[in-house]
Amino acid sequence: MALALRVLLWPAVVAIFVPGSANAGAEDRAAEAWPGQSPPGQSWSGHNSANEDAYSALDGINKSNVKSLGLEWSLDLEGEQSLEATPLEVDGVLYFTGSHAAVYAVDAASGKLKWKFDPQTWKHNPGKLMFMFGINRGAAYADGRVFSGTLDGRLIALDAKTGGLLWSTQTVPETGGKTITGAPRTFNGKVIIGNAGADGGERGYVTAYDAATGRQVWRFYTTPGSPEENKGDPAMERAAATWSGEYWKTGTGGGVWDSITFDAQLNRIYLATGNAGPYDPDQRSPGNGDNLYTASIVALDADTGKYLWHYQVNPRDAWDFDSTQQMALADLVIGGERRKVLMQAPKNGFFYVLDRHTGKLISAEKLGKVTWAERIDSATGRPVEVKGARYESGDAIVWPSPTGAHSWQTMSFSPETGLVYLPYMQVGVHIQKGKPQPGLFYIGGLSISGVLADPQDGKGALIAWDPVAQKARWRVQQTMLWNGGVLSTAGDLVFQGTGDGLLAGYDAASGARLWQFNAGLGIIGAPISYAVAGRQYISILVGYGGATAIWNQLMPRGWKYGAQPRRLLTFGLGGKAQLPPTAPRSDSLNALDDPAVTITDADAAAGQAIFNLACSACHGLNLTSPGAPGPDLRESRIALSESGIWAAVHDGALLEKGMPQFAMLSPQQVHEIYAYIRAGARLALARGKDAATSIPAARVDGRANP
Ligand code: HEC
Repeated sequence: MALALRVLLWPAVVAIFVPGSANAGAEDRAAEAWPGQSPPGQSWSGHNSANEDAYSALDGINKSNVKSLGLEWSLDLEGEQSLEATPLEVDGVLYFTGSHAAVYAVDAASGKLKWKFDPQTWKHNPGKLMFMFGINRGAAYADGRVFSGTLDGRLIALDAKTGGLLWSTQTVPETGGKTITGAPRTFNGKVIIGNAGADGGERGYVTAYDAATGRQVWRFYTTPGSPEENKGDPAMERAAATWSGEYWKTGTGGGVWDSITFDAQLNRIYLATGNAGPYDPDQRSPGNGDNLYTASIVALDADTGKYLWHYQVNPRDAWDFDSTQQMALADLVIGGERRKVLMQAPKNGFFYVLDRHTGKLISAEKLGKVTWAERIDSATGRPVEVKGARYESGDAIVWPSPTGAHSWQTMSFSPETGLVYLPYMQVGVHIQKGKPQPGLFYIGGLSISGVLADPQDGKGALIAWDPVAQKARWRVQQTMLWNGGVLSTAGDLVFQGTGDGLLAGYDAASGARLWQFNAGLGIIGAPISYAVAGRQYISILVGYGGATAIWNQLMPRGWKYGAQPRRLLTFGLGGKAQLPPTAPRSDSLNALDDPAVTITDADAAAGQAIFNLACSACHGLNLTSPGAPGPDLRESRIALSESGIWAAVHDGALLEKGMPQFAMLSPQQVHEIYAYIRAGARLALARGKDAATSIPAARVDGRANP
């Protein structure tokens, strides 16, 4: 059997590659099936597979036969929106989460839905819907249990066979801005989850629970609390020395909203922490101070949760530069020496290789266009920042932007080629301190807008990066900025979906495109690979959305809210299934107007300010929605009447669909929002088709699109 043979041959293949491409670790890989999980290779039982490297050792689908890869089956996922999750596959069953962390179990060979568990956040704790649009990055599995974190902060354990609830525990306060969007991870009989909320200054932490009972085992805060809270805790006392003022009141951040890596060899947990919040350092920690452990990688003892080391990627973060991105583990031969490394491409645009024994920097180089820093000093491990990048004089333009040169979209390390394949994004940001600039996204005293200056700005690329030489080996330029995560396989292939709806297979060595499938909707999730009864499959969730609405002008438009079904697609060699028809992309805006309504400029202007603050994260800055996570309200029938808006916004009529309730808005404020939507719709109609649909692209700073 080809598959088994390849697994057996594996150490030999690696041996051939070691001298050239500096790799080792296949033997370790086999040993790293941690308790309660299936061996890596056939299945995909951890979020990014073993070592968080998003690599599959299967080679049934390979360079020579990928041309005959075809759709085996597809499953429509009714009611879903943004699908960011990476599925898991264990013993012939796929487990994944939907937009609001509903968990699905699907027969991996046939595509039949086995069960679905809906945590009903809208009913359980509707107040939390206001803090985050519906996204979730996946489930975790161990010992017959499936775990997922809900937007309102519950960690839920389900029976993998039946989907029945085993236990549920509240991991964040029921009120306040903490939410969960990330996938839990399992290790040593435990399950661990972090939380989001750093943009609002929420103090981040992770909590490890007993996987069988849900009892808390340990918790680690990523930023210090008040002096009383820190007392006697060396990790917190040390961190507190890097903050000033009453930071525990003004905000800290550092939420672990995405990546957590378990190192089975060293029995460690690595946390990837978020930005500091508020973004402007002077607001949260006047003067100086690195603000530990924000924008950092922190190593903890897996048994006790005790601090071991940290590496801060962005001391005193000023740009929303999360370092929450995936941390892939590998053994690399660097300078003739075999090193245990951790690799990360955080938002800030550098690619980091750390020694995971010590947390010391081995190397860091720019992935692409990066202007906030010249380089990372190899002696201190600190960035050499460019003067003015911290908007010291009131404003600054830097690359990359808060969308990141790389975000949560999975990168993949192939132990075979020794390359990391990563979804890169290029766009700059203009940050202006002070009063809100009309029409711009405004947060914590800063107006923030995207900047496009050269032809590759506003676009993404798939980059094959050599982590030893710290340089690109090949690069596939893409038309869209916001694309999907990456999978690499032992079949010498790399797979990635794009925002324009294509799933492609590339030659891992050269980047040549060998295969492509039109999924009929933009892709942001990552593919996985697994085998059932000796047959290899590739599966991926298709559901464009996520953080597209604030950066709407950089995101592909034409995917309409609710028009294109969200789906799980599975491919195999010789697959002949047909995708059910999907509404095509449409760039035209079907704005609705009621000529009888009179609007005052003052109301519309006031409405714009409220809208951009409270609604734009889902409905699009300045009313322009890229189709997700919320609809374009200029096309809304409900928004044609003030009573319709009132019902949806104030009364929470659409809570079940993920539209939050804003009971705190006064009738006057709702009226102003209404006036703004009506004015926007009327303006779009007056401009005609072209004006309504084309977004100026030369320099995008939000104001261009009233
Ligand atoms: C967290 C995301 C989110 C935020 C924030 C949000 N919405 Fe929504 N909204 C949605 C979603 C999702 C829908 C679509 C619900 C559905 O599928 O019917 C929606 C639907 C609506 C609709 C009905 C549209 C239609 O025709 O179906 C209106 C009106 C609306 N929102 C207004 C607002 C306003 C005004 C604000 C700000 C005060 C706001 N929303 C904030 C997510 C959001």
